Amino acid sequence: MDKEYLLAPGPTPIPPEVLLTMAHPIIHHRTPVYEQVLQEVREGLKYLFQTKNEVLIFASSGTGAMEGTVTNTLCAGDKALVVEGGKFGERWTAICRAFGVNAQVISVPWGKGVDPSLVAQALEKDPGIKAVFTQATETSTGALFPIRKLAEVVSRCPGTLMVVDGISHLGAQELPMDDWNLDVVVCGSQKALMLPPGLAFAGLSEKAWGFVEKSTLPKFYFDFRKELRNIAKNQNAYTPAISLIMGLAQSLRMIRKEGIENIFARHARLARAARAAMKAIGLSLYAPEACANSVTAVLTPPGIDGQKVVKVLREKHHLTIAGGQDQAKGKIFRLAHLGFVNDFDLILGIAAVEMTLKELGHSFELGQGVKAAMEVFMEK
Ligand SMILES: Cc1ncc(COP(=O)(O)O)c(C=O)c1O
Repeated sequence: MDKEYLLAPGPTPIPPEVLLTMAHPIIHHRTPVYEQVLQEVREGLKYLFQTKNEVLIFASSGTGAMEGTVTNTLCAGDKALVVEGGKFGERWTAICRAFGVNAQVISVPWGKGVDPSLVAQALEKDPGIKAVFTQATETSTGALFPIRKLAEVVSRCPGTLMVVDGISHLGAQELPMDDWNLDVVVCGSQKALMLPPGLAFAGLSEKAWGFVEKSTLPKFYFDFRKELRNIAKNQNAYTPAISLIMGLAQSLRMIRKEGIENIFARHARLARAARAAMKAIGLSLYAPEACANSVTAVLTPPGIDGQKVVKVLREKHHLTIAGGQDQAKGKIFRLAHLGFVNDFDLILGIAAVEMTLKELGHSFELGQGVKAAMEVFMEK
């Protein structure tokens, strides 16, 4: 029997309620029924982003919202600062440069968090920097960045925006947009939102909308002002991904029902269990001092190729997780516990990892990882 399991940091598993909602016959989007759904979605997104401002929705993967953020807030030749500690940090730099934005980089070793004083120094040295781009969770390394502290630094600079890629973080771990003074937060549907890929989101502060007014970079599909005018009328500028929006309405209902704080607590617990399990079988974490709660990146034991771990898990045990990318390729595997994941999903994942590592020759006592995870789950 080929029963498949998915514990990757995106796409993530989708609840049956969401799948069934999306399976309904499609409706037309220029109708009162759709407008009612979008009105509910707008409120749900504000709850999720913890903002009073509007959250824009695009039919694209998360990168679309990243690109739109650059092209809607900046002008050619503007200076930007990118905190680059992995694959997705590099993406901010690449997008900026593609549009003629002068991106300076704070290079963070992969697997590490960032020291906010580095950003403070860079902004002091060059007050002309218009935006600081970063990740909340750098999915490629499993590292958590100190967004609250970074935002404190940036909010002291009226001419600089704090832009956060929350794609693998929002809805799994704290990222209250308004409370922390975040100017732009972007997200994608295929992570904590428990949906298929295909929707991107961007929440903007009032300060960010001020930048949008002055931005002169070229844009067409990702035109934030146009989308804002439309969403205010419960509409989209172009044909929306209607079935995904229906699914989103359902997943947001589930998120509200569970409660954002409970969801954060669930992810924290899953992360604690995953870390304890990996340590119990003699493995080390890739980002030990700054571990995110959505994904656990683990160094593979000496002599075992991380890519092989992922391959055996997928082909023999039907569990899909993620390997390492670029400089981390072959050195790590990434077990995610993001979105629609509970204790027993993770226990299953840990059991499969243990069996795979045993098969590949790692020496440890089978079951110690599962035991460590169960102990975390049984803590009062
Ligand atoms: C932190 C982060 N940023 C950006 C992206 C890119 O998103 P997408 O593949 O949806 O364009 C991802 C996807 O894995 C991510 O985890």
